[in-house]
Amino acid sequence: MSPRLAGTGDDQADAQFDLRFVHYMTGGRAVSQNPYWDIIEPFVTEHDGRRVVNGGRAKGSARLAFAQMLLQAAYAYAIPAPETIDWVREFCGSRPIVELGAGRGYWAAQLADSVLTVDAYDSEPPDKVGNASFARVAGQVDTWFPVGDLEDFAARAQPADYVLFLCWPPGWGDAMSSEALKVFEDAGGERLIYIGEPRGGNTGNDAFFDALSERWTLDSVDSNFVSWWTDAGRPAHAVQHGRTGRVPACRQGTVRR
Ligand SMILES: C[S@@+](CC[C@H](N)C(=O)[O-])C[C@H]1O[C@@H](n2cnc3c(N)ncnc32)[C@H](O)[C@@H]1O
Repeated sequence: MSPRLAGTGDDQADAQFDLRFVHYMTGGRAVSQNPYWDIIEPFVTEHDGRRVVNGGRAKGSARLAFAQMLLQAAYAYAIPAPETIDWVREFCGSRPIVELGAGRGYWAAQLADSVLTVDAYDSEPPDKVGNASFARVAGQVDTWFPVGDLEDFAARAQPADYVLFLCWPPGWGDAMSSEALKVFEDAGGERLIYIGEPRGGNTGNDAFFDALSERWTLDSVDSNFVSWWTDAGRPAHAVQHGRTGRVPACRQGTVRR
């Protein structure tokens, strides 16, 4: 890591973080199935009742912010903590998952390792075309799981007999999340997992959040979700929704209207 950037103030912890970073980033799957988590786990602390990667300091550090940028580009934007993967597995049961906007397919790989059936798609699969969020880097794999393109997705989208998984869909007014939800609703989809920031943040658009509040019921919030401390203003979360009116299969931590 960059020693010129300020660390957390705990030199030993920072040095160990750097060691893990090099070890797991260069070792790939040969050293871990979830290197992202193995790198950051010792830097996860409880803050304001949430699990946050901050190295024990409410304000993190400049060096950790740099690491965050590299890790998100190498693996995924949201953090697949093992507890969150378990929470997804409980919700899905035997239902398959279809992930749209999968990026490198890192979450899809974690879910598949957890014996879930997953199909992953992205408009720009990083191993096939340039993806601004997931550039090709020598020594790193382009994808962790097969990621199909939108043509592949169109062939899979119906019938919607799956759980739609949207993890960090684009924000800033991009209609991807609301359009994906509309296609899913029109095809009869009934279960959705959304991981990202709440309305007004960097993920999802207003039409997506409007649709959720109008036609979907919040079934569960992952109380173990781990976010980066940089999300402090609008902490990211993982939520499960079901179509309003259906009988939920799983009421773990359920909040219903
Ligand atoms: C912020 S990244 C998140 C990727 C991944 N889910 C993660 O958590 O790391 C958003 C992804 O959505 C993809 N995307 C953008 N518009 C899309 C669309 N209309 N259909 C499918 N994927 C799209 C981008 O190519 C990008 O890989």
